[in-house]
Amino acid sequence: MLELDNIVKAFGGFRAVDGCTFSVNKGEILGLVGPNGAGKTTLFGVIAGALQPTSGTIRFLGEDVTHLSTDALFHKGLVRTFQIPHEFHRLTVLENLMMVPPNQPGENLFANWLAWGKVRACEEEVRARAVETLAFLELTHVTEERAGNLSGGQKKLLELGRTMMTDAKLVLLDEPAAGVNRTLLRKLEEKIQILNRERGYTFILIEHDMEMIEKLCQPVVCMAEGKVLIQGDFHTVRSDPRVLEAYLGEPAGAEREQAQHDPHIEEVREQELHKEDL
Ligand SMILES: Nc1ncnc2c1ncn2[C@@H]1O[C@H](COP(=O)(O)OP(=O)(O)OP(=O)(O)O)[C@@H](O)[C@H]1O
Ligand SMILES: [Mg+2]
Repeated sequence: MLELDNIVKAFGGFRAVDGCTFSVNKGEILGLVGPNGAGKTTLFGVIAGALQPTSGTIRFLGEDVTHLSTDALFHKGLVRTFQIPHEFHRLTVLENLMMVPPNQPGENLFANWLAWGKVRACEEEVRARAVETLAFLELTHVTEERAGNLSGGQKKLLELGRTMMTDAKLVLLDEPAAGVNRTLLRKLEEKIQILNRERGYTFILIEHDMEMIEKLCQPVVCMAEGKVLIQGDFHTVRSDPRVLEAYLGEPAGAEREQAQHDPHIEEVREQELHKEDL
């Protein structure tokens, strides 16, 4: 479905992505892991058309899409969510979903004049889809809430919801688990699995939460310093000495990993996140 061939993205003399080659097959949830600064988010930017690659090619559904814009890729079904949620915080949750579908007739003044009936019908259709999406994500109770008031976990669910308002084929998820409490995390995992198995979505999932990667992803690709170190199943990647070295050699990553497994820190974090969700 997606083929990356020797992708390089340089910022000045620094190669944040340094020759990445791998493919994603239809129906997969590919896990993209690697220490902080490995180049994962930059690679997402390149795949989604937000950043022009310095060199290399990208094929999506058999077509060369290397130089297409984010918009053009979005229309082809390639959709990205962000490491930091991009909700419109003054709009309601429902409005956030309703403004996603591209080319709504209501956005065009002349269409408003000429085809009022069509605009209304389309808006009703979009509304119905948004309502259904909120029900699927179990967010119906916050339909009229301002998106800015949602908890971190709910915002991540809303981001996932926005991909469901499009006819997405490949969804790029950047750290969906970050800042999400355990309960909402389980829900998020379950929704991703349903979207994958029942609705045919293919995913690339960037995550530092290894439990989530283990549960959802096959295959797993590990990046470090802009390069692909290894691709394989979770256990092969996890136990590869190059992967261990990459994580240990990167202090911020190592600390973050350790924090995730320190029962005390975990407990404090859980309490804070729980408070946030009440
Ligand atoms: N616009 C930019 N200009 C210059 N350097 C950048 C830019 N964007 C990213 N970088 C650098 O590229 C490297 C890769 O960053 P990136 O955000 O892709 O890493 P990451 O793997 O997503 O890390 P994390 O796990 O912390 O999110 C980092 O050293 C970062 O500082
Ligand atoms: Mg990142």
